[in-house]
Amino acid sequence: MNIIGPDALVFGVDDIAACAQYLTDYGLTPVGVTAQGGRFEALDGTAVEIRAQDDPALPPSLGTASLLRETIYGVADAATLDAIEAELTRDRVVVRQGDVLRTTDDLGFALAFQVTVRKPLSLPAESVNAPGAAPQRAPNALGLPPDLVARPRSLSHVVYFVPDAAKAEAFYARLGFVCTDRFTGVGPFLRPAGTQDHHTLFMIQTPPFMKGCEHFTFHMGGPTELLLAGTRFVEKGYQSFWGPGRHRFGSNWFWYFNSPLGCHVEYDADMDQHDNTWAPREVPMGADASQLFLFQHREKWAPSGPPPAQAHH
Ligand SMILES: [Fe+2]
Repeated sequence: MNIIGPDALVFGVDDIAACAQYLTDYGLTPVGVTAQGGRFEALDGTAVEIRAQDDPALPPSLGTASLLRETIYGVADAATLDAIEAELTRDRVVVRQGDVLRTTDDLGFALAFQVTVRKPLSLPAESVNAPGAAPQRAPNALGLPPDLVARPRSLSHVVYFVPDAAKAEAFYARLGFVCTDRFTGVGPFLRPAGTQDHHTLFMIQTPPFMKGCEHFTFHMGGPTELLLAGTRFVEKGYQSFWGPGRHRFGSNWFWYFNSPLGCHVEYDADMDQHDNTWAPREVPMGADASQLFLFQHREKWAPSGPPPAQAHH
């Protein structure tokens, strides 16, 4: 089934104003946002939507502290919607509301499926000059153009805490998701058939009371955009949680932040692409397996005098 990836994540929050400010400062564009919430879009139209926790239009909560209320998948075409409907009506209620299918997965996460809203992007990737390779930038083309905006380009992936990762994986396999890599006893990285991204969904097995969203992230144009956007986010006062660094599985750069959405929010860049010839790897979870390297943000300085004293945050 030609599922491309998440088009949007919907949260029911208790502080709409704080979440709206957060998502705007993160780099998303508010669209139709009011005091009741609204949509915050990346450059390709993928989005995070926030509503009041008690908004009756939202699917029910997961019954935990998680504020995630729905994962909306974008699919390639109407035929894929028909195929999803045919598969899932075998054992559950699937509601068709206009051009959107709504149901729940085997763990209770509310899902929606629609023909994707993603707009095609035509933007350069970050380019690198290196001895031994043809230059990626022409003479006089700057690696750091003064107008580098570093805006989130596309909703990359969501990570769920699940009480039964095997059961969840079996459900998503029915929709054509394949495992690209796995942490033993933790969960799989899953790639749907409509993308070559290493994963659009990762799951971490946890006790049932933790069920929900661990984090979500948007793709940036490269590691420089990730570092620039993250630095600006820190300078706005947001709290770095993990990163910047580079994951092993997926090779994606990461930088995670605390948020008022009840989950962490990440910037990512330069994820591996895979096709069906890829053989998944499996290793135990651990610090070395999770990242190749990890840095901690420091305030800027210039070597005009002694470096600033080590700060302890
Ligand atoms: Fe991530």
